[in-house]
Amino acid sequence: MTHLQAEYTMHALTLTHGDKAETYRQLLPQLAALIADETDLTANLANISAVLKEAFGWLWVGFYRTDGDTLVLGPFQGPLACTRIPHGRGVCGQAWAQGETLVVADVNAHPDHIACSSLSQSEIVVPVFDRHGAVMLVLDVDADQLAVFDDTDAEYLQQLAVLIGEKHG
Ligand code: SME
Repeated sequence: MTHLQAEYTMHALTLTHGDKAETYRQLLPQLAALIADETDLTANLANISAVLKEAFGWLWVGFYRTDGDTLVLGPFQGPLACTRIPHGRGVCGQAWAQGETLVVADVNAHPDHIACSSLSQSEIVVPVFDRHGAVMLVLDVDADQLAVFDDTDAEYLQQLAVLIGEKHG
């Protein structure tokens, strides 16, 4: 019984009202706690995607992992997505190639945006680095409104990326 209780422990997330930065500040330590006792990357990325989708209501949030010279779809929440993205292609492939966070205010104006959903209007992609400094994943977030993402999202999602990279990189 004790074993079962430990194995099936549920994590309750607590969020009080606040601006976007405040929501991130409340979420990050809870996400850290959520993944602390689980060693499986897929399980942790799945829960992180779910929590971010619930907290912010974005259209699509999820991960692509590097696989040779492509990105391959990982855990996500939202509409059906492309399964593979070549290195350097789309916003995700460019964030991987450049090793930098990319914020796109209007995906329709971006010359190499890959439209997985016609509802997507703006996007942020944050690379996750492993312990050797190589990109192991990208975190991709899409919104159905223009210009949703800014430096605040970049700052806190990069903190989340560090958390993931330190644990699984
Ligand atoms: N828009 C991304 C592709 C992934 S989907 O949005 C989930 C891109 O341009 O790389």
